Amino acid sequence: MNKKLKIAIDGPAGAGKSTVAKLVADKLSYIYIDTGAMYRALTYKALSSKSDLHDGRILQSLLKDTNIELEITENGQAVILDGNDVSKEIRSSEVTNNVSFVAAPQQVREEMVRRQQELASAGGVVMDGRDIGTHVMPDAELKVFLIASVEERARRRFDENTSKGFEADLEKLKEEISLRDKRDSEREFAPLKKADDAIELDTTSMSIQDVVNEILHLVSERAG
Ligand code: CDP
Ligand code: CDP
Repeated sequence: MNKKLKIAIDGPAGAGKSTVAKLVADKLSYIYIDTGAMYRALTYKALSSKSDLHDGRILQSLLKDTNIELEITENGQAVILDGNDVSKEIRSSEVTNNVSFVAAPQQVREEMVRRQQELASAGGVVMDGRDIGTHVMPDAELKVFLIASVEERARRRFDENTSKGFEADLEKLKEEISLRDKRDSEREFAPLKKADDAIELDTTSMSIQDVVNEILHLVSERAG
């Protein structure tokens, strides 16, 4: 497997994109790019500076002065915003419930896509998000669209939270996930959408390892 591929993994919240993308990247010694973390970092900055989350021009100028780096550390990937590690802060429920607004304006998307394409330019990359197969890497050799029932996705988030000792409410998680999916799918620019040439995997009854194995199999078919 010598050819360094571009692998796009898209899908709704909690479908397993980041978990699976990281494992696939590790296995192939590829870089992993979590594009959701970039939108989350901008949202965190917009909330901290009390910016209007619905004004594309304000968000555009905020982003222009914002440096976002994804760093590999001993504990996984760290998100560095203007020199500060915000890996934990960007996972707060306040950021989670507002990120779809910040990710909607065309001005924000154009600049984020430009940065993401620069990061992916050398190939040998696994990138996950909502518009990777459709907009960021339309030339990706492998596109995977992960789905799972909303009940299963909420259950996964519930287990994730409770295992870390956080409180969680299954019904509330289900509502939040459904609302975010709706906003992400219905926005005008680069909505959450399966690319025509993406392979859809329903992971509702699949373990993480099953999904990783399936993707590695698809990679081996393409890498020659
Ligand atoms: O991990 P989870 O599915 O909860 O979300 P994420 O991947 O961290 O993405 C957070 C949010 O960023 C999504 O709900 C989208 O609003 C936005 N996003 C996007 O618009 N485009 C991407 N390529 C990635 C994320
Ligand atoms: O990135 P995305 O929002 O699509 O999902 P994730 O953060 O990778 O996965 C959400 C949770 O589901 C994590 O705790 C994973 O360990 C878990 N998961 C699972 O139980 N079974 C799978 N097939 C995939 C993920």
